[in-house]
Amino acid sequence: MGLCTRGWIVILGIPREIHEHEHRVAATPKSVRKLIGLGHEVVVECGAGASAQFSDAAYKEAGATIAESPKDLYQVADCVLKVRAPEIHPEYGVDESQWLKQDSHLLGYLWPAQNPELLEKLSARGVTAFAIDSLPRISRAQRMDALSSMANIAGYRAVVEAAQHFGRFFTGQVTAAGKVPPAKVLVIGAGVAGLAAVGAARGMGAIVRAFDTRPEVREQVESMGADFLEVEMEEEGAGAGGYAKEMSDEFIRKEMALFLEQAAEVDIIITTALIPGKPAPKLITEDMVKAMKPGSVIVDLASERGGNCELTVPGEIACKHQVTLIGYTDLPSRMATVASELYATNLLNLITELTPEKDGQFNVDMDDDVIRGVTVVHQGEISWPPPKPKTPTSTQPPPGTEEPPSRQQPLAAPSPLFRSLRQIGWLLIAVGVLYGVGAHAPQSFLTHFTVFVLACFIGWQVIWNVTPALHTPLMSVTNAISGIIVIGAILHLAQSESIIIGVASFFAVLIASINVAGGFRVTHRMLNMFRK
Ligand code: NAI
Repeated sequence: MGLCTRGWIVILGIPREIHEHEHRVAATPKSVRKLIGLGHEVVVECGAGASAQFSDAAYKEAGATIAESPKDLYQVADCVLKVRAPEIHPEYGVDESQWLKQDSHLLGYLWPAQNPELLEKLSARGVTAFAIDSLPRISRAQRMDALSSMANIAGYRAVVEAAQHFGRFFTGQVTAAGKVPPAKVLVIGAGVAGLAAVGAARGMGAIVRAFDTRPEVREQVESMGADFLEVEMEEEGAGAGGYAKEMSDEFIRKEMALFLEQAAEVDIIITTALIPGKPAPKLITEDMVKAMKPGSVIVDLASERGGNCELTVPGEIACKHQVTLIGYTDLPSRMATVASELYATNLLNLITELTPEKDGQFNVDMDDDVIRGVTVVHQGEISWPPPKPKTPTSTQPPPGTEEPPSRQQPLAAPSPLFRSLRQIGWLLIAVGVLYGVGAHAPQSFLTHFTVFVLACFIGWQVIWNVTPALHTPLMSVTNAISGIIVIGAILHLAQSESIIIGVASFFAVLIASINVAGGFRVTHRMLNMFRK
């Protein structure tokens, strides 16, 4: 059933983040302008964007009102946009969630699985809460995917932090004073953060190798100029939704033997290995740290979930066995300006979905997979976890939905019996036509007609099963066919005296030539995409 919240212009409130070392902000002057364009009013707490380099004046210029204190902000805000989940305010000693107005909305990182008490508190206040971390990771939701935006920043920043603590160049150098070899970097886990780290380390000139349990990332790793490492054991690493699943003990043992070998060779290890809903797998042991060269660096991006390395101290930098272990849990916040820009854009895209009429009013459509996925408390009722997303191909309207016929889902597909009867009908018509042609047409026409029918059949068989991704290379092949058509049509033009054949040949030459020229052009452009 479509549950909608309609009626008033939603005032969006952007408080200053109070979590220690949190420098991000949930809206930027640019996103505020667009939020106002959706019909909302925006109130920003004084100094909310200061740590991310966005001044109050810039917010004011974008059309926001500045609230002097968080209390003032929460009093008027119908929907509070935050980065971190509500917590006790260090200056006022009050839980931020208690400031939320009755029946208001909250949007931010809420981590519902880890925060059941928070959901209870929000439910008690009748709040509707959207957890951006619970967004279903489907193609349509990519523009709202804050987890990916932040993972991308974390991966890049991990390389910057490693470079800061590593005593050599990343790129190899030959100088008058001697030769410096390039740094060797191992990236464990080639998800969003891992691939960003691979890209950044390659960009700085390091030799990069990466490992992941999901073999499908091999191509992505190699396309970025890194080597993909493997273990000698076949086991499917991909679980639901493109994420990793927990691997067998045997696989982990082999994987760790590989890391022990690599530890002695590489200078920097960046670990990002995570499995949704589980603590981070421990993949780097103390022995591996001992095996690394003095001055090496490990950046553990999984440290917030316990760390991939046994020796990681979450949130801190530690030095063990002459190896620097970076366990920062706030890497995106260390690049607060860009992190805020991307996060604010993700939230703006979600608010755009919630404000379909651009009239400043929310429509919390619980039949929409994306909205349903992020809504963890709906009008005071805990609605997490969400049911499995509906398959996009479903033709069944959700129970209780009574849309007017023009807006209904596609009509039910015809039954198999109806389809078979239809096919038999078409077959009979085709046989009838062929019989008619065979019985009445002259012998010379019949020969050409037979060749034509066979050509259609073979052409259809050849092209029909080609996947769309290969249609461009197919163009080059059709060039050859078009070439034959051009030659045949030119011969007809030269020999035939019939005006009809002349006109038909002329058009055949024209259209086939366009196909040849277009085919070469498209193929040329495609090849250019592969050239550096
Ligand atoms: P993540 O942060 O949960 O995991 C990071 C990486 O660690 C994954 O690549 C995983 O395979 C790897 N890993 C897990 N256990 C490991 C082990 N024992 N050894 C080595 N590596 C291990 O994942 P992330 O980066 O958030 O996304 C992973 C994938 O999810 C993406 O590559 C993509 O396929 C899919 N995805 C889809 C999105 C969409 O369609 N909107 C958005 C983001 C991700």
